[in-house]
Amino acid sequence: MSVLYLREICRKMRSIKQTELEPLVRRANQIITEVTQGGRKPCTDVIDVSLGDKHRGGVQPLTFVRQVLAACLYPQLIHSYKLPGDVRQRVQSLLGACDGGSVGSYTPTGGISYIQCSVSNFISRRDGGVPSSPENIFMTSGSQRSIMQVLKMLADFHNQASLPIGVLTAVPTYSSFKMMLQRLGAAVVPYYLDEEQCWAMEVEELRRALQASKGVCNTVALYVINPGNPTGHVQSRKCIEKVIRFAAEERLFLMADEVYQESVFGEGSEFVSYKKVLSELGPPLSHTVELASFHSASKGFMGECGLRGGYVELVNLDPAIMKYAYTLFSTDICAPVTGQLALELMANPPRPGDPSYPVYAQETQSIRAMLVHNMNWVPEFLNNIPGISCQPMMGGAFVFPRLYLPQAAIEKAKVVGMQPDLWYCKRLLEEAGVCVGPGCEYGQKEGTHHIRLCVMTPVETMEEVLKRLKNFHLHFVKEFS
Ligand SMILES: Cc1ncc(COP(=O)(O)O)c(C=O)c1O
Repeated sequence: MSVLYLREICRKMRSIKQTELEPLVRRANQIITEVTQGGRKPCTDVIDVSLGDKHRGGVQPLTFVRQVLAACLYPQLIHSYKLPGDVRQRVQSLLGACDGGSVGSYTPTGGISYIQCSVSNFISRRDGGVPSSPENIFMTSGSQRSIMQVLKMLADFHNQASLPIGVLTAVPTYSSFKMMLQRLGAAVVPYYLDEEQCWAMEVEELRRALQASKGVCNTVALYVINPGNPTGHVQSRKCIEKVIRFAAEERLFLMADEVYQESVFGEGSEFVSYKKVLSELGPPLSHTVELASFHSASKGFMGECGLRGGYVELVNLDPAIMKYAYTLFSTDICAPVTGQLALELMANPPRPGDPSYPVYAQETQSIRAMLVHNMNWVPEFLNNIPGISCQPMMGGAFVFPRLYLPQAAIEKAKVVGMQPDLWYCKRLLEEAGVCVGPGCEYGQKEGTHHIRLCVMTPVETMEEVLKRLKNFHLHFVKEFS
């Protein structure tokens, strides 16, 4: 007899909306199997650009990162003459910081203190000297886990109120965030990004959304993704300042998801952290606005998604609440040590003069060149396809072009019981062997349709993706015109 009956699984679990992307990715894998078993038509392979996963897309891992990790896992390698001296030194320092000198040991809850210090120094350097305290940093199994823990903390502190907690959440947004809110029984309070203004965030829209949530939920936090996923927008310093002032006025906890901070290459764009702007605003705001800033080893140059290394820095939380945060994070015991090591290598890469630096510089430069090329060229190409428009990309990993679908195609999608852009993606996958994310997964204005493509993809692969997408789109539009 089954111990778990579906009807017993709590209401919050059942309210989680199944992701639209997962069945597509599963189907893409099935097609790959069909292809290898012989002669599937019309497409003979699948290119998957639906996820922000560099290595999956064909980008190679960084040599320095893998050398250090390999020798940390198998310390006998330290004696290999093939490893550069700085790699050997780093391995010795890192293993020296692990209990028992082994990555197989548990670590303190927030992470190995040596790595907390490295991360904290990285944050301070990044923010032009703004102080950062290692004890405010909690490393987790990917930044997603940090986000979930912070949401749990918010939910725990407000569970006396009669209304569920709500979090202001962008439309479109990173879809797992909505699932996390649903899992906790919290409300998504949607605010719309302005597509015509390159997906900018407007404080007036935040105000409207907050007002609309009154009486429906108890809105306690504002979640911001900068650089944006799926939009590719990068917020200006001025915009961040306005958002912080708004959060202060409305007494909202700020959640700044900054996992794409290393990927800002648009002309005139730069990454400025919420923490830096908050600090520059001075007292009282710099001492009172509560902020959680998230970062990850999954994105940026290293793209080590599978190692599961992320962290949150908590700023301006009351010491009593920090105690509770520690207890909450300790329910995971600790983050995987490999993920923590990845964070240390991200925070502290080789520097000029180090033996590993020339290879590191060449590898990161080639990733940078690929991203810069794709960021400029992909939107331009898409804008030249009739029936597609794409905002310029400033940073992050994705473009989110709008599809202008013929009415007959929209009607047909209704008949097959699918959202129009999901149906479009399904056909694109079956007929052209390209897997992209449907706009309905991330949220979009009623009556609009989009797709999401990851541009952290080698240039030749991206060229093939766009060639197939263009052919498919033109045929699709003709079929329904
Ligand atoms: C905006 C955003 N935040 C957080 C994450 C989670 O990343 P990870 O848990 O791998 O650190 C992702 C993953 O794609 C993301 O796009």
